[in-house]
Amino acid sequence: MSIWFGGDYNPEQWDEPVWAEDDALMRAARVNTATVGVFSWVRLEPDEGRYDFGWLDATLDRLAERGIQVILATPTASPPPWFTLAYPDAMPVTRDGVRLTHGSRDTYCAAAPSYRAAARRMAATLAARYGQHPAVALWHVHNEYGTQCWCEHAALAFRSWLQKRYGAGADGLAQLNAAWGTTFWSQCYSAWPQVVPPRATQWRGNPGQLLDFCRFWSDELLAAYCEQRDEIRAAAPGVPVTTNVMLPDYQVIDPWAWCREVDVVAVDHYLSSTGPAGHADIAFAADRARSWAGGRPWLLMEQATRLVYAAGGRVLSRPPGRMLRDSLGYVARGSDSVLFFQWRASRAGAEMWHSAMLPHAGPDTAAFREVAELGAAVQRLGEVAGSRVTARAAVLLDADSWWALDGQGLRGADLRYLDAVRRDHAALRRAGVVCDVAHPEAALSGYRLLLAPALYLVTDAGAEALRRFVAGGGVLVVSFGSGLVDQAAQVRLGGYPGALRDLLGLRVEEFFPLPDGETVPLSGRGPGPVPPGARGATWSELIDVTGAEVLASYAAGPLAGHPAITRHEVGPGSAWYLSTELDDPAHDQVIAAALAAAGLGPEVPGVPPGVEAVRRWGAGGQSWLFLLNHTAEPATVPARGVDVLTSVEAAGCVQLPPGGVAVIREVRGP
Ligand code: GAL
Repeated sequence: MSIWFGGDYNPEQWDEPVWAEDDALMRAARVNTATVGVFSWVRLEPDEGRYDFGWLDATLDRLAERGIQVILATPTASPPPWFTLAYPDAMPVTRDGVRLTHGSRDTYCAAAPSYRAAARRMAATLAARYGQHPAVALWHVHNEYGTQCWCEHAALAFRSWLQKRYGAGADGLAQLNAAWGTTFWSQCYSAWPQVVPPRATQWRGNPGQLLDFCRFWSDELLAAYCEQRDEIRAAAPGVPVTTNVMLPDYQVIDPWAWCREVDVVAVDHYLSSTGPAGHADIAFAADRARSWAGGRPWLLMEQATRLVYAAGGRVLSRPPGRMLRDSLGYVARGSDSVLFFQWRASRAGAEMWHSAMLPHAGPDTAAFREVAELGAAVQRLGEVAGSRVTARAAVLLDADSWWALDGQGLRGADLRYLDAVRRDHAALRRAGVVCDVAHPEAALSGYRLLLAPALYLVTDAGAEALRRFVAGGGVLVVSFGSGLVDQAAQVRLGGYPGALRDLLGLRVEEFFPLPDGETVPLSGRGPGPVPPGARGATWSELIDVTGAEVLASYAAGPLAGHPAITRHEVGPGSAWYLSTELDDPAHDQVIAAALAAAGLGPEVPGVPPGVEAVRRWGAGGQSWLFLLNHTAEPATVPARGVDVLTSVEAAGCVQLPPGGVAVIREVRGP
């Protein structure tokens, strides 16, 4: 067993003499895995139907000889210029009607038949040639599916998706009109050709249309993936197939649906911050990946060594000395790989300043030495491969809520879906609790605590699942913005949050969004979970309790004296409601009270703040305790066993230096 270590390898960008240096340096860094061919379409098919596999044959043979396994990609995320000229109609069109052309990557409409046929042909051709190649350990279809398009092909495909959902003909159209509420602003459709993607329009668009368009694109891209996967499976039976899911702050695909179609879940994750928020984000990324994998081990397909092109045009650089700790952050939470984009920093091209395992300055660099040290550490971790992380708490995560809330959601609230989910995840992490993310309609009975942050759209089935969870003794903590709309993104009437009103034992009459930067004081009732001095921000609501107990009320403003935080005992379980955004200490205290009610505590009691402790469990009951000290102070953590990284024994406790790590193969007993 081994943890996969390496990254994207693009030898086609380099002359042959460089390949020998790659061999030597990969050996020095203990690279055991190379992802090949991700964007190599033009080198594989220089003109339509004319193939050149020489360099790829040589690369796979060479890597096999060196004992390096290959993740072989299909190159379909980057069609060559000849493709544009041959199939101009397959170039993507933006929401504003601008047709894009080649010059970058992802210039295609995945609903265009000519693109789909070319991509499928490429997958089949590669699979026929390399399906039995001994180096190929995994197939990697495409790269980070996520490109939407608003062209005529997209319009046709969207219509046919809608007809499957609502029915064809006049009846289907009537259903669609009802679901989208098109009588508002006179937008009723009287014939199917009038139904188009949500292209640029005069002002605010239709929420139902926007939501269905997101659902459609996730399904359409998934169909494109499945076509390639099936070609590969037919020619390479037994070799797993996957695609790399991007973990950005926006959401184009529904990962729950996608991850059912891959043989192993693979994600790409880049730092969003180099401070504590970055550590929290690594944990959040890893917990998402593991949950999408149903708890099975998953692969970190890409991260950056140092400099990363972050969201919003920012450039971040991971501080020296953090590569091991950050990488262990993923492995601790179930990754069986530490892979990077990319092996050798490019000399040219759009990402030539992005960091790599081997920097421009060469191997005699701090960065490469750190990579080699990481390779040595990862090699020692082979024994943890295949082991699993277990969690009894989860944060609910749902693509529909994300699309609906961020697309056309709650007006007046500075409420971004992922921020709300991240916030609850971070609170559990601060409490030392390892959690999953879970879909509201999934099997939930294995959890003791569920957090529902901004779960805006709740289906009838989702509401029923949450009712069953609480009735079965679970603790559910719901935050404002949840349960407001049904699966068509229409308001649930009779008082908010319609889907969860009875479960929460309350009824919200009206919203009172708080202006930016303004907070409202809260007053707790007796010795409760809301600390004195707590304040709410962003949002407040006029609540009538119909069975819930009031834990804290608004202490000033138009809602003074009205409930703010409540708890409803339901049989052996309870459903809590936060109608405002609590400051961090108050939020942590409410989460601590909910954890106590659920009978949950930290993974390792007595771990100092800022030290992360996560366990992986092997099939035979062996456990490994990952300890990551994110502070600038030394830390002492209770542990018994042997540090796999250093072979040093821990006889009751481990001393971690500032920024230090340990992976303890635990022993139990006296
Ligand atoms: C990823 C992508 C890589 C590379 C990397 C760095 O999202 O899959 O090909 O572009 O970002 O920007």
